[in-house]
Amino acid sequence: MAAISSSSSTTVTLTPPLALQDRVAIVTGASRGIGRAIALHLASLGAKVVINYASNSAQADAVAAQINSGSSVRAVTLQADISDPEQVKHIFDAAESAFNSPIHILVNSAGVLDSKYPSLATTTIEDFDLTFSVNARGAFLCCKEAAKRIKQGGGGRIICLTTSLVASLKPGYMAYTASKAAVEAMVKILAKELKGTGITANAVAPGPVATEMFYAGKTDEAVKKAVDECPLGRLGETGDVAPVVGFLATDAGQWVNGQIIRVNGGYV
Ligand SMILES: NC(=O)c1ccc[n+]([C@@H]2O[C@H](COP(=O)([O-])OP(=O)(O)OC[C@H]3O[C@@H](n4cnc5c(N)ncnc54)[C@H](OP(=O)(O)O)[C@@H]3O)[C@@H](O)[C@H]2O)c1
Repeated sequence: MAAISSSSSTTVTLTPPLALQDRVAIVTGASRGIGRAIALHLASLGAKVVINYASNSAQADAVAAQINSGSSVRAVTLQADISDPEQVKHIFDAAESAFNSPIHILVNSAGVLDSKYPSLATTTIEDFDLTFSVNARGAFLCCKEAAKRIKQGGGGRIICLTTSLVASLKPGYMAYTASKAAVEAMVKILAKELKGTGITANAVAPGPVATEMFYAGKTDEAVKKAVDECPLGRLGETGDVAPVVGFLATDAGQWVNGQIIRVNGGYV
């Protein structure tokens, strides 16, 4: 912040614009967990945010209320299933009309995990299809819409949440890991296909992060094992991941393109 004294001796304070001032971001799966932290962080950097969710309207409303506690409306909520193409289109339509602006940033954080942790041999076809439907098809639909509609010429960002399991390849996570591996391939190809648009496409791949998804179906022993496997000796927090997404979203992140950023305290 700089202070300038005018000739009449009044002091004018100049505040530099925030890194994402008035850019419009869609964050899918922003009612809880990592998506929630990302939405709050992008808003703290000045972005206007669409808070997408599947069913938890009260939690999504609470995130929006936290962002909107100032004078102007900087967040809206939108229920939509990202595995449905019409509903994904609706997210983008709603974002444009809510803020009367093109969209600059997509963060696709919505995801599901089979908390039965089955082996490949015992994974049901229904659970396999559900996992791929949300994690891979959902990411595809969001990226497809984003590639067509995000503002070109600078500041355009596509960021998908994948997982460090794609590198650690643990038993019990076959469908989930394979669905996220598909997204990592998708993002790398998309970055090349977006040549000339100025839009970057990256994946952020956390290790274990203390959210409802992580704890679902896990014994205390399994949680302790995840902590033991991390050189930094703890689970990740949503606040460990959000600033990395925030960096990629800002102009400072423009040279990072087509990459998988593993954010996991060093466990793989
Ligand atoms: N937690 C971890 O250890 C970890 C590690 C690596 C990667 N990740 C990835 O990070 C992302 C966020 O995970 P998280 O732990 O924050 O999960 P979470 O706490 O379970 O939250 C999941 C979010 O996704 C939304 N969602 C689920 N299905 C959806 C659908 N079909 N359409 C739209 N929204 C949907 C949920 O909405 P509702 O609240 O309405 O249900 C919720 O907002 C996921 O992609 C996950 O795979 C997580």
